Amino acid sequence: MNKSANNVLISPSIIAADFSRIAEEIKAVEQAGADWLHLDVMDGHFVPNLTIGPDFIKAVRKCTGMFLDAHLMISNPLDYLQVYAEAGADLLVVHVETVADPRKAIDDIHALGIKAGVVFNPETPLNLPAEIFAALDVFLVMSVHPGFYGQKFISDVLPKLRAVRKMIDAGGYQTRLQIDGGIDPQTAPRAIAAGADVLVAGSAIFKSPDYAAAIKALRG
Ligand code: DX5
Ligand code: ZN
Repeated sequence: MNKSANNVLISPSIIAADFSRIAEEIKAVEQAGADWLHLDVMDGHFVPNLTIGPDFIKAVRKCTGMFLDAHLMISNPLDYLQVYAEAGADLLVVHVETVADPRKAIDDIHALGIKAGVVFNPETPLNLPAEIFAALDVFLVMSVHPGFYGQKFISDVLPKLRAVRKMIDAGGYQTRLQIDGGIDPQTAPRAIAAGADVLVAGSAIFKSPDYAAAIKALRG
C-alpha cells in the first residue's frame, strides 16, 4: 500500500463519478494524484441503495493498476469474498454489523491473498479486542450513515477515531485508519487531527472542477 508525502492517502469514491465516462474519470483521478480507488458495493438490503457489483469492479480493474479499495455494504459478505477478490479488489472491507466473527472474516479475506479491513457504522461501538489489529490492514470508521454520497459529516465519530488511533499506536500496529463520508477541505483536517491516515472522498473530488486541486486540498 503506497504512501504519499505526508502519509495521508486519498481514496476517491467512484460512486460520485460520472458512470457514463467511468474509464476517463478513473484516469483523471489517477493523474490528479489519488492513492487508492474506493469502490462502494451496496446490495439494497444492508443499505437502502444499490450500486456496483463484481462485473463493474472487473471493468475498473481493466482501466487501472491503482490499489482497489472495496467497501462491502452487503449482508452476508463472507459468501461473496471470493467473487470480489477474483474481480480484482486489492482490499475488502466488511461491516462488523454484518459478520458474527470479525476475526474469521479477516482470515477468510487474507486466505484469498488480499488485504483485509473492517468498518464500523457511526453508532456501532468499538467492540474489538486490541490484538485484532495485528491482523488488520485497514480500520474504517464511517462518518455518515452508509448508502449515499453527498451526506453531511457526523463529527460525533471523532472520539471513536481518536480511540482507534490510540489502540493502533499503543500496539505499534501497521493498520491504516480510514474515514469515509462527508470528507471535504473543512472536515479533512479534523479527521487527520483525530488520527485518520486514509481519507475517502466522493463528492469533494468528483463534483469539483479540478480533481488535482481537490485532492491537494484534502491532504492539507
Ligand atoms: C457512503 C459511501 C461513501 C460515499 C462517500 O455510503 O460509503 O464512500 O460514497 O461520498 P462523500 O465523500 O460524498 O460523502
Ligand atoms: Zn465507502
